[in-house]
Amino acid sequence: MIEVTDLSKVYTMGTTQVHALREVSLSIRAGEYVAIVGASGSGKSTLMNIIGLLDFPTAGSYRIRGTEAAHLSKRDQADLRNREIGFVFQRFNLLARASAQRQVELPLFYANVPASKARAAATESLQRVGLGDRTHHRPDELSGGQQQRVAIARALVNKPGLILADEPTGALDSRTGQEILALFDELNQQGITLVVVTHDHGVAAHAHRTITLSDGQIIEDKANGRSKGKAMAALPLNGAAHGSRHENGHSENGHSENGHSENGQAHDVASAYLSDSVEQTANGAAQVSGAAQVNTTVEVGHEVS
Ligand SMILES: Nc1ncnc2c1ncn2[C@@H]1O[C@H](COP(=O)(O)OP(=O)(O)OP(=O)(O)O)[C@@H](O)[C@H]1O
Ligand SMILES: [Mg+2]
Repeated sequence: MIEVTDLSKVYTMGTTQVHALREVSLSIRAGEYVAIVGASGSGKSTLMNIIGLLDFPTAGSYRIRGTEAAHLSKRDQADLRNREIGFVFQRFNLLARASAQRQVELPLFYANVPASKARAAATESLQRVGLGDRTHHRPDELSGGQQQRVAIARALVNKPGLILADEPTGALDSRTGQEILALFDELNQQGITLVVVTHDHGVAAHAHRTITLSDGQIIEDKANGRSKGKAMAALPLNGAAHGSRHENGHSENGHSENGHSENGQAHDVASAYLSDSVEQTANGAAQVSGAAQVNTTVEVGHEVS
C-alpha cells in the first residue's frame, strides 16, 4: 500500500538546514498495523505527514497504492487523501461549536456527497465508534475519549483504507486511551491499515510492527510478536490521474493554498480538519485558520438537525 524509498526531508530555516528524514525506506502492506516510535524531533510527524500527502519529501520516492505521489497534481493528491486516508490527532481537531454529527459530515461536503447521504453516513460512522447516542453533542459536551471517537468517526466516514494517527492517546488518561486503542484494534481487524505515531510503548504494543526513528533514520523495524494484521487486497485508486506536480503545500509556511477546486469551494477535507484552530461563524461557514494547512473558508452547505 505504501512504498517509501530513500526518502529525505530537509527543512531550510534561514541558513540552517534541518534534516528531518534521511534516506528512509519502508513499505507497509494493506491491512498492517504499524507503530512509529522515536524521540521527540526524530522525524515521526514528518514521515506521517508525507505518508498522508500533507507534506512532500525533498528527495526520494513515495508511492501509495502504486502511484508515485510526486506525479499527481495537487488536486489529485487532495482527492486521493480525501478518499483514501483518515487522520486522527492528539488534540482531536474538532470544530468547537459543531455537533458530533456535523463534524463527521464535514469530509463528505468536500466529496460533494448529497446532504441526506452525508447525514446517514455520519450517523453510521458515529455508531461504529460507539457514539450513536451522542450525535447532537458538541465537543464541550463530550469527554476527551468521546471527542477522540468523534474524530475517529470523522476519519472513517469516507471509508478510507488507511488511518494515520499522530499521538492519538496523548491527550487522554490511560483508561480512555485504552478504549481508543481497543477501537483501533477493531478497525484493523476490519481490514483498515493503521499507522500510529506514539511516544508510548504501551500504545505501540497494540501494533503488529514497530518502526523506530532516530535523528531522521530508521534504526529498527521489527514485528511485535503478535498475529499479523489481516492482509487485504489493495483497492484500486479511483480516478487518481497522473499529472505534473504543482508547487506543493509545505506545512512549514502555513500559507499553502491547496484544496481549492475551480468553483472556489475548498474540496480538500484535510484543510478542514487538520488545522489547529477552526472557528465556525454564525452563518454556518467554517473559517479554518493557521496551523499546518491553509487559510480557507469552507461552506457547510446544509442544516444539521
Ligand atoms: N515545518 C518545519 N520547519 C522546520 N523544521 C521542522 C518543521 N517540522 C519539523 N521540523 C524539524 O524536523 C525534525 C523532525 O520533526 P518532527 O516533527 O517530524 O519530529 P517528531 O518525531 O514528530 O517529534 P515529536 O515527538 O516531538 O512530535 C525536528 O528537528 C523539527 O524541529
Ligand atoms: Mg510529532
